Amino acid sequence: MAKPKVYVTRQLFDEAIEILRQHADVEVFEGVDQPAPRSLILSKVREVDGLLTLLTDRIDSEVLEAGERLKVVSNCAVGFDNIDVEAATKRGIYVTNTPGILTETTADFTWALLLAIARRVAEADRYVRSKRWIHPWGPKMFLGSDVHGKTLGIIGLGRIGRAVARRAKGFNMKVYYYDVQRDIRAEEELGVLYKSLEEVLKEADFITLHVPLTAETRHMIGRRELSMMKKSAYLINTSRGAVVDEKELYRALKEGAIAGAALDVFEREPTDPENPLLTLDNVVLAPHIASASVETRTKMAVTAAENLVCVLRGEEPPNLVNPDVKKIRPLKTHT
Ligand code: GLV
Repeated sequence: MAKPKVYVTRQLFDEAIEILRQHADVEVFEGVDQPAPRSLILSKVREVDGLLTLLTDRIDSEVLEAGERLKVVSNCAVGFDNIDVEAATKRGIYVTNTPGILTETTADFTWALLLAIARRVAEADRYVRSKRWIHPWGPKMFLGSDVHGKTLGIIGLGRIGRAVARRAKGFNMKVYYYDVQRDIRAEEELGVLYKSLEEVLKEADFITLHVPLTAETRHMIGRRELSMMKKSAYLINTSRGAVVDEKELYRALKEGAIAGAALDVFEREPTDPENPLLTLDNVVLAPHIASASVETRTKMAVTAAENLVCVLRGEEPPNLVNPDVKKIRPLKTHT
């Protein structure tokens, strides 16, 4: 029997490609440091049984419809807002992601951003490098905000939100959280307190976002929400850029309605070099790298490859996003 065919939309780790090659004829997009163009994905998808995608690929109904023999889209990310999951399910296409693996690494980076904005690390680095440090040490130089003993507000207490909460213990912080679902077990285990969204916004000194991007969470933090925050509070976003209304965030930061923000994600990525947020000192910015450790990114790619291979072999993948698809196309019909 002919081997199934797989297209990988981006240069990935060899460990992952090796797993795919054991089960399929694999083609990897050759471009360096860039995603496969949409037109190429649209043409490749016609010939393949599996696509291994990244969060930069928009896998919408047009792509899915073109994939006449497509059985699986394996996203190498925990978020899957780049895929039209409903359209995939209707067409019997399995969608998988890589949850769990990047939890701790993303939580580490959330704290890196939180500490960096509170203690003005990036700003101080720019100051020293730009040779402006000409006066001797001074008691009022680069005053920031304490982190220990403050109140942390977590919006979205999923895996990453909980990992962020665990780290807050070491800083002796009070932790409030808001989520659409109350998690009593997490409250007992982590000592976090459930609050309404308004209460979290009004009472926390640091607010960190850990929700998926959906129709409900798009611009969940806008003018009204920012105006509820303390003037001394900071916003940290390592989820998806569009959860925050960037224009309103810029306004709030510029007017001093909040003290600062640290962002790993943007409404458009790469963000526009003219994005006014880039002109502000009270922000710390990163190019969507919260999960970017060697260990984690390698494991994510390997997991994405394993998920994909499972579906090609007619087995249930460990990280299936759309279990309803099994009713449309039961696994055994895949092989
Ligand atoms: C990263 O943003 C991911 O969703 O994995």
